[in-house]
Amino acid sequence: MEKKKDWGALPFAYTPLKSRYEAVYKDGRWFENGLVTDADIKISESAAVFQYAQTCFEGLKAYRTESGEIVMFRPDLNAKRFQDSCRRLLIPEITEEMFIRAVDMTVRDNAGSVPPYGSGATLYIRPFVIGSGPVLGVAPAKEYIFRVFGSPVGTYFKGGIKPITLTVSDYDRAAPRGTGGIKAGINYAMSLYAGGKAHAAGFAENLYLDPGTRSRVEETGGANLIFVTKDNKLVTPRSPSILPSVTRRSVLTIGRQYLGLEAEEREVYFSELDDFAECGICGTAAVICPVGAINDHGRIISFDSGMDEAGPVCRRLYETLTGIQMGRLPAPEGWIHRVM
Ligand code: PLP
Ligand code: COI
Repeated sequence: MEKKKDWGALPFAYTPLKSRYEAVYKDGRWFENGLVTDADIKISESAAVFQYAQTCFEGLKAYRTESGEIVMFRPDLNAKRFQDSCRRLLIPEITEEMFIRAVDMTVRDNAGSVPPYGSGATLYIRPFVIGSGPVLGVAPAKEYIFRVFGSPVGTYFKGGIKPITLTVSDYDRAAPRGTGGIKAGINYAMSLYAGGKAHAAGFAENLYLDPGTRSRVEETGGANLIFVTKDNKLVTPRSPSILPSVTRRSVLTIGRQYLGLEAEEREVYFSELDDFAECGICGTAAVICPVGAINDHGRIISFDSGMDEAGPVCRRLYETLTGIQMGRLPAPEGWIHRVM
């Protein structure tokens, strides 16, 4: 008998599925290969992705609901952000329709790998595109590969909704007027060194400041920030070098419409951090993870909610967001995309 899978213990790591979607771009147009079984890609050593990092990606999840359906959360926003990323990197357009079709096909064919409702695990979906054609001078490729693969995953930060500690990075993840607002692979390459230093020092993640003045807070390496003021207002930083997180945009709506909070997106100064009651990070992989403290070069900024458990607003946001995603709570119009 097959051993029962312990979905709840899954790490956030790559486990290949039996199939993935693929389309190739050549001679000025996309050709859809549909589902393919080979997880490996063979391309030129001089491919634009290898030489000049011409690549961007997306991240979204497929959820199993209590009634056994498989749904996705606002994939139209991922499709639109993918288009913004492609445009900025001179990658040919992938329409919203093609993006959704690719994601749906991948999830449907791998339905058996969507973790059960209530297991704490989900199927993470990673659409990405690479410049696969050869270049030598700095130029965009003439050929591209667009793929969508998936991997069953557990939570990004171990312990689910247990507070983490961030540390202020001395490095920037994106330049002013650079690529911080798109999901380009280079942003993550730029965060590896700083991320390694943060982890080695025992911190969960870096807090990046605005690269222009280093006086405002931006986001972490893989998630946006949210704050709660002492008078219960939800605040999230605004900046052109922050990735426009689907989760953060949804959390603002949830704060207003489900929790009756005032919610605003505005510049948040580093000097204000001591005044907040709660802090959290949010993203597809991170979901909503409370931040108990921030290390500023040895000075610890502690939030009222502490290191033992999530503050009341973060907890309610987490429960409402995941309730909507898993079909326990009614969703705003258009938020839930039913795959099967
Ligand atoms: N910020 C960065 C740098 C990210 O990589 C992510 C992950 O996608 C996010 C924020 C959160 O975005 P989303 O909520 O769309 O997943
Ligand atoms: C996501 O949340 O989808 C991301 O891409 C973040 C990454 C750090 C895994």
